[in-house]
Amino acid sequence: MTTALITGASSGIGAVYARRLAARGYDLVLVARAASRLKALAEELRDAHGVTIEVIAADLVVDLELEPVLQRLRSNPQIDILVNNAGTGLIGDFAAADPAKMTNLLRLNVVATTMLASAAIIGMVERGNGAIINVASALAFQPEYLRGIYAATKSYVMTLTQSLAAEVTSKGVYVQAVLPGATRTEIFERSGGDISKVANLMEVEDLVDAALVGFDRKELITIPPLPDLATWEAFEQARGVLASGCFNSQPAARYRIGQRDLRRDS
Ligand SMILES: NC(=O)c1ccc[n+]([C@@H]2O[C@H](COP(=O)([O-])OP(=O)(O)OC[C@H]3O[C@@H](n4cnc5c(N)ncnc54)[C@H](OP(=O)(O)O)[C@@H]3O)[C@@H](O)[C@H]2O)c1
Repeated sequence: MTTALITGASSGIGAVYARRLAARGYDLVLVARAASRLKALAEELRDAHGVTIEVIAADLVVDLELEPVLQRLRSNPQIDILVNNAGTGLIGDFAAADPAKMTNLLRLNVVATTMLASAAIIGMVERGNGAIINVASALAFQPEYLRGIYAATKSYVMTLTQSLAAEVTSKGVYVQAVLPGATRTEIFERSGGDISKVANLMEVEDLVDAALVGFDRKELITIPPLPDLATWEAFEQARGVLASGCFNSQPAARYRIGQRDLRRDS
């Protein structure tokens, strides 16, 4: 039997991952703050699929509550899949943002996501198998669209996943970043937005089902709404060309101070 730990399982994308993985026969550990919603989901999935379900009610931005989740990832029965999904947004300008809300967002989307992956990966590398699904966002490609720090946190999740893949794929551990576009969940209202103003919403079941197709194919980056995979491949190829030019010992010619500038400076 395989066990998956899903953060943010009380609603939206995480709850659908829980339903889909339970239907595949996985035992689950469900994590979020809303204990009553987690317990109701656990009961539903035990009845429907006969799987074992643990519930950990935890606010992942609070160190004392994050710690038991990290401990669970390091203990037995082993966690074979971490769905690193809990996250939230923050609508509004960077210049006007409440520092406490920004700190919470960073703690959840960046710090908790990183520490959960760290706790999970040690055992996975030792065992030579396991998987981590990190839920990022297509806004990683469009930081100008939404002001504030949300896109930057999701860009971090994507690059962390790419870096992790370079480290652990050869050790038998699979990592995937899922980049949803706008998906019909509670995140808009929770972040101070208005879902009725959001265009081209994807239904959350469609998003997770597509992400799981990417998972089964062992894709590193899965972008469910992107119609043409060649777009992503061209982007990656261009990134490789750019990166190969970024590590020279001398500044590029266009940044060298010309003779005329030197005379003027002396
Ligand atoms: N929906 C979209 O359009 C969209 C697009 C791109 C990426 N995403 C990403 O998808 C992931 C899931 O979001 P969603 O769209 O499914 O939104 P959602 O319905 O609001 O779900 C967020 C989940 O995270 C949990 N959570 C929030 N704060 C938490 C905290 N401090 N500690 C523990 N759990 C916490 C929530 O549960 P509790 O309130 O019970 O704690 C809930 O289960 C997020 O990482 C989000 O950034 C969403």
